[in-house]
Amino acid sequence: MNGQRHSRFNGRRQSRVLETINLPIILEHVAEAATTFYGRGKLPEYIPELAEIEPNQFGMAITTVAGEQYTIGDVDVAFSIQSISKLLALILAMNLEGESLWSHVGREPSGTRFNSLVQLEYEQGIPRNPFINAGALVTLDRVLAHVRDYPSVVLDFARFLSMSDSVAIDSAIVECERQTGHTNYALAYLLRSFRRIEAPVTELLAAYFHQCALSMTCRDLSRAFVALANGGLSPILEEAVVTARHAKRINSLMLTSGMYDSVGNFAYRVGLPAKSGVGGGIVAIVPGHMCIAVWSPELDLSGNSVVGVRALETFSEITGLSIF
Ligand code: DON
Repeated sequence: MNGQRHSRFNGRRQSRVLETINLPIILEHVAEAATTFYGRGKLPEYIPELAEIEPNQFGMAITTVAGEQYTIGDVDVAFSIQSISKLLALILAMNLEGESLWSHVGREPSGTRFNSLVQLEYEQGIPRNPFINAGALVTLDRVLAHVRDYPSVVLDFARFLSMSDSVAIDSAIVECERQTGHTNYALAYLLRSFRRIEAPVTELLAAYFHQCALSMTCRDLSRAFVALANGGLSPILEEAVVTARHAKRINSLMLTSGMYDSVGNFAYRVGLPAKSGVGGGIVAIVPGHMCIAVWSPELDLSGNSVVGVRALETFSEITGLSIF
């Protein structure tokens, strides 16, 4: 695989640190090392559509705060972003609700599986954070209090942030999750019984399944979330997509809760705020420098991409880039 540099966007000047490292060569090393871990994980059988994907695929795209892009591998293959969409909903909710969001959902790591029912019952229907499924449902419920036709809103938002018209919602995945997402129905009904959500359960879940079914490439994702590396200002759009204060807080939440119950292990190995999805994608933020999107479909036991985590670990080791 050949690492490639693209400067389609006229961004600001590259940071000093990035001037000293050769990202195309580093990406080649990372891809070579990470793809030796093909075959070590499993596809997510609980979402049958995702279990059909060809497993040996790998892509990695970097968008820097100067608006430059560096890529390697399958960066133009669209995949299901799944829980990475929880970042989109969180940005929308923080912009629409501000601090009052936190009276509905917590900011602590869960230490349990992302779709655990037990903790939610035990804690009276207040989810631990916006990135576990129950927390994403409550966050989305707050967004639904402000918008109509959420699938179009979230689709437009993803297209806007990534400047890509090819971002789509995969209707086969929406239908698949609608038919097989029994645990999500259970979580939503439990939230409803604790009176923690306002929207009807079917409406809320339809919105949730649509956001999970967003289909994007690594290239799109690294552009969409680069603002989080740049104090909320997108170098591509040349406008703020969140305030600097919210960007900092979203990064903190990604660091403490973005990789589910292996968040501690990920912080130890990689040391970056990140958000994963069971489609095999991971978005990681290097504050002040770049957004990295990596994708490879096979997952570890926590639901994170095996090859993706390995790639980010190798990248952080070679470059020395981490928040620690
Ligand atoms: O609701 C679900 O279970 C999936 N649509 C999303 C879960 C997910 O991506 C968790 N990620 N690691």
